[in-house]
Amino acid sequence: MRAAIITASDSGYEGKREDLSGPVIREILEAGGYEVVHTRLLPDERKMLAEEMARIADEGIAELVVTTGGTGFSPRDCTPEATMDVCERAVPGIPEAMRAYSMTITPRAMLSRAAAGIRKSTLIVNLPGSPKAVRESLEYILPALDHGLEILTGKAANCARK
Ligand code: MTE
Repeated sequence: MRAAIITASDSGYEGKREDLSGPVIREILEAGGYEVVHTRLLPDERKMLAEEMARIADEGIAELVVTTGGTGFSPRDCTPEATMDVCERAVPGIPEAMRAYSMTITPRAMLSRAAAGIRKSTLIVNLPGSPKAVRESLEYILPALDHGLEILTGKAANCARK
């Protein structure tokens, strides 16, 4: 499966802060067998983020888009809104699971507004911004994502029914 990584960060985009979370996502995805075909650092601009997510899905660039940053309460945080602007189908279970698991690590996990959804044959998943939160969240959800993507892309039939 091909993956794309979008980092949403005003300070990163302005060159004032190094993007540490994008590389953590790459490391985890590659260890999980994904090919990272595209990475992009963008400011916390809803339209720019939405257009990039839509482009990746519409041009069939990757089956999975993972974003980091912009899920909190800062006035400029808008990654979930950009995500839901372009998704045709919501996948609430993924952020629900991330938050439920992350709540066992820190109560602040409830502050993540992360969303996930599907556009065409691409799954878009928001992660929080810090490298620590990225690792904790992505390692937890990745095994289930694999299965979902196989179904989304027609590589596996629906789950066996009992
Ligand atoms: N999830 C995990 N697993 N670990 C964390 O340390 N930090 C939380 C939360 N989710 C955290 C986490 C905090 S402090 C915030 S403010 C929100 O994610 C949103 O993060 P963001 O604004 O960097 O996107």
